[in-house]
Amino acid sequence: MGINSKPVVFAVLSAAVILVGTVVTVFVPLFMPSTQPASPYVKPYTAVELEGRDIYMREGCNNCHTQTVRPLRTEVLRYGEYSKPEEFAYDRPFLWGSRRTGPDLARIGGKYPDSWHYSHMESPQRLFQKSNMPPYGWMAMNRLDISNSFRKTSILKYGYSESDVKNQIDEYRATVTSDSYPSKESRDKITPPELRKDLTEMDAMVAYLQKLGRDVKNMEAAK
Ligand code: HEC
Repeated sequence: MGINSKPVVFAVLSAAVILVGTVVTVFVPLFMPSTQPASPYVKPYTAVELEGRDIYMREGCNNCHTQTVRPLRTEVLRYGEYSKPEEFAYDRPFLWGSRRTGPDLARIGGKYPDSWHYSHMESPQRLFQKSNMPPYGWMAMNRLDISNSFRKTSILKYGYSESDVKNQIDEYRATVTSDSYPSKESRDKITPPELRKDLTEMDAMVAYLQKLGRDVKNMEAAK
C-alpha cells in the first residue's frame, strides 16, 4: 500500500511540498538583498521628472511604449544596453508595458535633444508621416501642477526635503526659460507666450523622457 492509495494524505503532503517550494523560490528571494541591488549610479527622479512620469501614466503612453530592453541581440542593437533590475529601483509602479506599438523608450534619454521632443510631441506625423502616435502639443498649454510634488517624492521615499523639491523645480524652470536654452526656439513655438516663463506639462514630459536610461548611459560612458 503506497501513498497513492491514501488520497487525503497525498493531498496534504503535496500541498505542503508546494507551499515550501513557493516560500523558498518566491518569498525568500523577496527579502534577499541580492535581488534588490542598490546601485549608486541609479538616481531617483527629480520632482519635475516625477511629474512628467505621472503625466506619462495619465496619458497612457505605456499602452504603446514599453520601457524595458530584453537581453536579446536584436533589442540591444536597436535600443542599447539591456535593462538591469536596479534601474527600476525608483519606479513605482513600473512601466515595463507589454505592447510595442511604438518603440521601447527605456533608452530614450539623451538620444535626441529637447527640441526634437518638443516638435515630435507636437506632431509625430511631421517627423514620421505614418506614425500613429497622437499629437500632444496641448500639453504645452497646461501649466504644470506642482502643488503635490513634495508629497509625491516623500511618499516614494526619495529623501528630498521640501526645499530640495522647490530648488529642483526652480532650477528646471530657470533652465528651460533661459534665453540660452538650446531648445528655446522649439519650446517657444508650442508654448503660449503667457506660459513661456513657467513650467508646462510638456516641459515635465521632456524632462522625464530625457531621464530614461540616462543613468545607465552615464555609467557605460564612465567605464
Ligand atoms: C497609439 C500609440 C502611441 C501612443 C499612445 C504614444 N505613442 Fe509615442 N510613438 C508611437 C509610434 C508608432 C512611434 C514611432 C513613430 C514616431 O516616432 O512617431 C512613437 C515614437 C515615440 C518616441 C520616439 C522614439 C524613438 O526612439 O524615436 C517618443 C519619445 C514617444 N513616442 C513618446 C511618447 C509619449 C511621451 C507618449 C504619451 C504622451 C506617447 N509616445 C504615446 C506610438 C504611440
